[in-house]
Amino acid sequence: MFESVAVSSKGKAEALVVGVFAGTSGVAPLDAGTKAHAQASVIERARKLPECSGAVGALGEVFTDGRAPQRVLVVGLGEKKNLTLESLRRSMTSVYKRLAAVKAASAELSLAGPLEAAKLDIEEAGRAAGEIASLMAYDSDRFKGAEARKKLNKPKLALRSTDSAFERAMKRGVAIGAGVNAARECSDTPPNIATPKWMAAQARALARKHDTVSVRVIEGAALAKERLEGLINVGKASENAPCLIRIAYTPKNAAKSAKPIVLIGKTITYDTGGLSIKPSPSMAGMKHDMGGGSAALGAMHIIASVVKPKRPVIALLPAAENSISDEAYRPDDVLTFRNGKTVEITNTDAEGRLVLADALCWACDKEKPECMIDMATLTGGVVVALGSTYAGLWSDNDALRSRIDGAAEMTGERVWRLPLHDEYTEMMKSSVADLVNSNPNRKAHPIQGAAFLQQFVDPSVPWAHIDIAGTWDVESATGPFARGATGFGARLVARVVEDW
Ligand code: BES
Ligand code: MN
Ligand code: ZN
Repeated sequence: MFESVAVSSKGKAEALVVGVFAGTSGVAPLDAGTKAHAQASVIERARKLPECSGAVGALGEVFTDGRAPQRVLVVGLGEKKNLTLESLRRSMTSVYKRLAAVKAASAELSLAGPLEAAKLDIEEAGRAAGEIASLMAYDSDRFKGAEARKKLNKPKLALRSTDSAFERAMKRGVAIGAGVNAARECSDTPPNIATPKWMAAQARALARKHDTVSVRVIEGAALAKERLEGLINVGKASENAPCLIRIAYTPKNAAKSAKPIVLIGKTITYDTGGLSIKPSPSMAGMKHDMGGGSAALGAMHIIASVVKPKRPVIALLPAAENSISDEAYRPDDVLTFRNGKTVEITNTDAEGRLVLADALCWACDKEKPECMIDMATLTGGVVVALGSTYAGLWSDNDALRSRIDGAAEMTGERVWRLPLHDEYTEMMKSSVADLVNSNPNRKAHPIQGAAFLQQFVDPSVPWAHIDIAGTWDVESATGPFARGATGFGARLVARVVEDW
């Protein structure tokens, strides 16, 4: 919706944005900065409009005498007792949609008064306001032709606030949103362009921007040397060769004893299903099967540019295209993994867990992780179970789980725990090998996936698996998101790292 979003206090803002609660008799008190130039009588006029109900996102809009701010927006914040970061995000989405529609180039947010009155943390609120604006500056028209792009005419939005703490936080929020947008961009890039090699180039571009970030790519013969059997087999039918992309964030003065947090993301650049081919309607959209890897890369953007933690963070992106040729891996093949476990392939469409298995056991061997969190568009079953409202979360480690729940609370990227149990592990046993990659009956597919992955994790390493198949993309514009990838997970895991 916007060409770009920046936080800047230069010049005068075209629009002034204030907030009002539902069911109160007055606008919550304006903070001192706003009072100096706030058009109290104009705000009063806006507040009396019938559409200015105070309901979350409801807008009252009036015009001043023409001097800046020419326009005053009074946005509903809902009932004071119900104000949360999540409802604030919805209110802000409504504000920015209006600003985009009227092609506003600048706006001043004066919300600190009501936010303080409702005891919402100003730093968190400012971040949320910045994030949402940034998400709405995502370029979803990159692949339109030049003619069509010329006509878009999106405004460049400059944001500021009367409250300096809120404004500083907005800046952070905008930068966090940029990391999410980087993740969305990767995943929305068509699969004829976004190959495993292309993903490695995206990682290298991040490393060029930050001297704390370095990238190593394991490919070709090195894959066999590292015994990354899942990647080799899933990727071998494609002319776009597979690779394991390792992105390392290493802070300058890291304590020697600090173990890295390891983020792992399924990076299937296209999922045809392989020889167990998907029917056409299920195949379309499978460019998004690199969602987990994109989220991990987006998180590394946020970690390197905003969070800058004192401990190291590693992202592993096992990248491959699950394609078809005479060289494709097949149902009935048996693969031997790095940790010695053998897997009978029952379905080449259960490919994500194979490349993740490589990354999980490689990380346990090589990285001495503090913990591992993997993200994957792993199963259609999790979409059936949780829709697009929650991602599925599996972890038997209470401490790690509560960190992830806490981060979800702050970022609004919701997760819901699903179980692990020996009975599910039983379902993954093979009669010819140690494991099957998929049990042919239709039971508990998302949990089968988690139970399979668990076989590749050293039990001493805290581990969580997040199935983002339902939350990774939207079929049509939803909230601040254009149709396409949402970047789900980037903010969540970056927050886990921030709060560690
Ligand atoms: N990439 C798909 C999962 C998926 C489905 C993601 C829908 C996003 C939307 C995954 O590789 C897959 O094919 N999963 C199978 C698993 C089955 C073969 C065990 C599925 O969900 O049907
Ligand atoms: Mn598949
Ligand atoms: Zn897949």
